[in-house]
Amino acid sequence: MMQGGKMVEIVIVKDYNEMSKKAAKIVTTQINGKPNSVLGFATGDTPRGMYEELIKLYNNGNVDFADIKAFNLDEYYGLEKENPQSYHYYMMENLFRHVNIKNENIHIPEGMAESIEIECEEYENKIKKVGGIDLQVLGIGRNGHIGFNEPDLKFEARTHFVKLDDDTIKANSRFFSSIQEMPTKAISMGIKTIMQAKKIILLASGKEKRDAIFKAVRGETTPEVPASVLQRHPNVIVIVDEETAALL
Ligand code: GLP
Repeated sequence: MMQGGKMVEIVIVKDYNEMSKKAAKIVTTQINGKPNSVLGFATGDTPRGMYEELIKLYNNGNVDFADIKAFNLDEYYGLEKENPQSYHYYMMENLFRHVNIKNENIHIPEGMAESIEIECEEYENKIKKVGGIDLQVLGIGRNGHIGFNEPDLKFEARTHFVKLDDDTIKANSRFFSSIQEMPTKAISMGIKTIMQAKKIILLASGKEKRDAIFKAVRGETTPEVPASVLQRHPNVIVIVDEETAALL
């Protein structure tokens, strides 16, 4: 279903499964239309199903990652790549090791970088060098964050060092054995970096995202709800399931 008024296109699907399939189809169409696409990937529970679908499509010969370049949104600060909670590990396990993407085409901020400043600058430069992101996949935090761009951060931010919100620390600590192990800092693409992607898909499922999605697409555009900036982007598709869409 498409809803008029704002630029943001909203697609309401039945459930998580359908959201994942729809998202995988958009990614596949992008890759098939431009085999050397630059894709922006996200982590978290939301895109897991989409990655599963992409692996199936790859195994059936419907999509080829050979020339794809991937840039992830973010990484925890202070976690080794081998740490099962790192986003490096997540991406390897949930997508990369199952498809034919080349190692040199995988880009994820380095959480153990000696100089955060240099790491952030180089990350931005790498994105620029390949001509920018063609399609960026996003999830949304319960507080409206995208990547790790927490509320109140300016919309002008590029890849940067982030101090995570208490709400995010609480929400993401579910992946760690205790809240003490959950990192409190991260490196994230900035809002400006994300907004420069040519096309964006934002995925959300379940009632705990209802409020964040409502504010993001129907509320005012404000740094208090980072995802609301997407209303200013000319090519965004928001794919939500019925539970999330209840307020729309
Ligand atoms: C994390 C990630 C975001 C993600 C969000 C939602 O903090 N940095 O990129 O979109 O959480 O996660 P989930 O999909 O697990 O709800």
